[in-house]
Amino acid sequence: MLHIKGGTIVTAERSFRSDILCDDSGRIARIAPQIETPTGCEVVDAGGLLVMPGGIDPHTHMEMPFMGSVASDDFYTGTAAGLAGGTTSIIDFVIPESGGSLLDAWKAWRQKAEKAAADYAFHVAVTHWDDQVHADMGTLVNECGVSSFKHFMAYKNALMVDDGVLLHSIRRAGKLGALCTVHAENGDAVAYMQAKLLAEGRTGPDAHPLSRPPTVEGEAAQRVIALAGLLDAPVYIVHVSTEEAANAIAAARMRGQRVYGEVLPQHLVFDESVYSNPDWLTAARYVMSPPFRPRHHQHALWAGLMSGQLQTTATDHCCFCAGQKENGRTNFTHIPNGTPGIEDRMSILWHHGVATGRLTAEEFVAITSSNTARIFNMFPRKGCIAEGADADLVLWDAQGSRTISTSTDHQNVDYNIYEGMTVTGVARRTISAGRLVWDDGDLRVTRGAGRYIPRAPLGRKLAV
Ligand code: URP
Ligand code: ZN
Ligand code: ZN
Ligand code: ZN
Repeated sequence: MLHIKGGTIVTAERSFRSDILCDDSGRIARIAPQIETPTGCEVVDAGGLLVMPGGIDPHTHMEMPFMGSVASDDFYTGTAAGLAGGTTSIIDFVIPESGGSLLDAWKAWRQKAEKAAADYAFHVAVTHWDDQVHADMGTLVNECGVSSFKHFMAYKNALMVDDGVLLHSIRRAGKLGALCTVHAENGDAVAYMQAKLLAEGRTGPDAHPLSRPPTVEGEAAQRVIALAGLLDAPVYIVHVSTEEAANAIAAARMRGQRVYGEVLPQHLVFDESVYSNPDWLTAARYVMSPPFRPRHHQHALWAGLMSGQLQTTATDHCCFCAGQKENGRTNFTHIPNGTPGIEDRMSILWHHGVATGRLTAEEFVAITSSNTARIFNMFPRKGCIAEGADADLVLWDAQGSRTISTSTDHQNVDYNIYEGMTVTGVARRTISAGRLVWDDGDLRVTRGAGRYIPRAPLGRKLAV
């Protein structure tokens, strides 16, 4: 049992002074202004702190095989780092073998994730289409607790799907009551631009953003929105990085289409200048897709989060160490794409969002936790502070500050993209399933303590 005493609870709806009692099953048992500590109950001092639902990161790639490497944070180290930063659940992406079974891939990911220190759920990627995929999607939704799928419109000759696959999958998911998520970049256009740049002798990381300019994302976002609209199905666009994609989502929503958009903190903080660093490795660390953009795009992303047209924040946490980035030393298209960040998402968003006055604390909770729980059907078990909900909480020091560094972080990667940044807003304590796992610098996580969170289908299903 845990008694969280003296804090201010902040939910997506309101803030109020209250104590919380967590029971031994890992749930919130009681919320009341003054609770008397039961005998034998551990007390956690929340004086001066905000008590918020633990962060949910709906976009991670722990130990993912990708571009000839395997992401260096595994389910244990990655979720542990998340807990140190106030993130208590992740939704990771299951990636099937080329042409392989979705169900087998889901089983393999279940096995890999057994070592997780925090709770997790899965989206499953659809990378081709045949009768087996159709059948596996049904099994995954009806028997395995998967209610979202992933589609890559980029990564030609690897994970990319064409419009035909997208249509089949969006319709099948819609009929099952599942949500399709999409990486929106035109993979043919990217491949064309990459070949052109390489032919011109542009082999360095500075060619990466040129190979996938904003139009490439805007076109794909508009296309998938149109395809989903054709089928009257919802769609969720991951890592929205451009004004073009943000505007396409907002316009679709204003037309009455159910479209969601996700923002990564790194796209709010970095611009394309990171790729011009004369030090090859420093530039290569920032190679991810979609790339960092000219700065004016950040305004559209903030406006989307502030207006609610973009609903969630994620990290796309996908770590490749310096040695792995070296694979692309002579050809930027071979640099494994991905950036780390699960440990710092909450702080970066507080510092640049709440401390600057762009967002309220309640809106911060919505975009870091509650909206994701609702969209991906984990609510009210996750993403809220209520009796009966999982006791996944972060005790937030709104005035505290820290300087981000790889020397003090917990991510299993040999750099931190936010190195040297001082942020206001710090996760002082994190509670996962009723256990204090992060206590002001002391990480007390348990390998394997994380649980698989099955998710039911969404309420609305396509009729035809
Ligand atoms: O560059 C990225 N984002 N790597 C991870 C895979 C993906 O596209 O999300
Ligand atoms: Zn992606
Ligand atoms: Zn991703
Ligand atoms: Zn480190």
